[in-house]
Amino acid sequence: MTDNGSSFRLEGRKLVVTGAARGIGYAIARAAARAGATVALIDLEQTRLDEAAAKLRGEVDGAEVLTEICDVTSYEQVSAAAKALETRWGRTDTLVNNAGIAYHAPAETMSVAEWDRMLSVNLSGVFYCSQVFGVPMIEAGSGTIVNIASMSGLIVNRPQPQVAYNVAKAGVIMLTKSLAAEWAPHGVRVNAVAPGYTRTDLIEHLVDTDMCRDYWIGGTPLKRMGSPDEIANAVLFLASDVASYVTGETLVVDGGYTLW
Ligand SMILES: NC(=O)c1ccc[n+]([C@@H]2O[C@H](COP(=O)([O-])OP(=O)(O)OC[C@H]3O[C@@H](n4cnc5c(N)ncnc54)[C@H](O)[C@@H]3O)[C@@H](O)[C@H]2O)c1
Repeated sequence: MTDNGSSFRLEGRKLVVTGAARGIGYAIARAAARAGATVALIDLEQTRLDEAAAKLRGEVDGAEVLTEICDVTSYEQVSAAAKALETRWGRTDTLVNNAGIAYHAPAETMSVAEWDRMLSVNLSGVFYCSQVFGVPMIEAGSGTIVNIASMSGLIVNRPQPQVAYNVAKAGVIMLTKSLAAEWAPHGVRVNAVAPGYTRTDLIEHLVDTDMCRDYWIGGTPLKRMGSPDEIANAVLFLASDVASYVTGETLVVDGGYTLW
């Protein structure tokens, strides 16, 4: 691929984003729609999906937007959503595994239910979606998957205790490498983006705390939080043909946080 510029475009591509009703997932869907892709938003509730789809159509002229309700922790629901999309638009070219949850809990008191829930959404859900959407990509001999990991899969963030989140995101990074190696012979690229602190509803309730000011922003060389659009830009790169020789990579987008 030698064409610089136009190959950032995603015209003709069908791109699925999980957890797309808000936050980083919504920004990814909007960036993909602006780049010319037809997008499918996946999330937990139809009302929130309808609102997000309407907002997206309002923000991007001519955007083609589908929605599917699906809890990524249910293999049955993921399979049903993929089947419904296949009927509606044919083969999915690109999958962005973005759905995720976060909470803080010390390792010594975290309940088994909390541990299981975190691993289920943030790691097993990524595998389920990758397998269900990946098999038709393998059959077709092409496709792209981008997983939203976190810098927390690379370092232990502080001061908040979040062992399960860190472990799940580290798992996403190794899942990315493993799938990339297994599926490269089939023409399927698998990469990840590891965001640093990004201002979304996930952490909005913590933005005005000393923890956020002193540790999160204070520990970021660029001295600010990232925006969902800045994460979406990295996803766009990895999903597009500009990254045709990139697979198994985790692109860190953290304002330099992991440098120190
Ligand atoms: N915000 C940050 O600072 C930050 C930093 C690093 C990584 N991330 C990662 O980015 C991704 C998006 O985070 P965000 O900040 O936009 O979060 P968010 O809470 O604003 O949005 C997450 C979306 O995922 C959906 N979701 C949750 N569980 C789901 C499930 N089981 N099935 C389907 N959808 C589900 C939610 O309904 C929500 O719409 C997550 O994987 C998160 O771990 C976020």
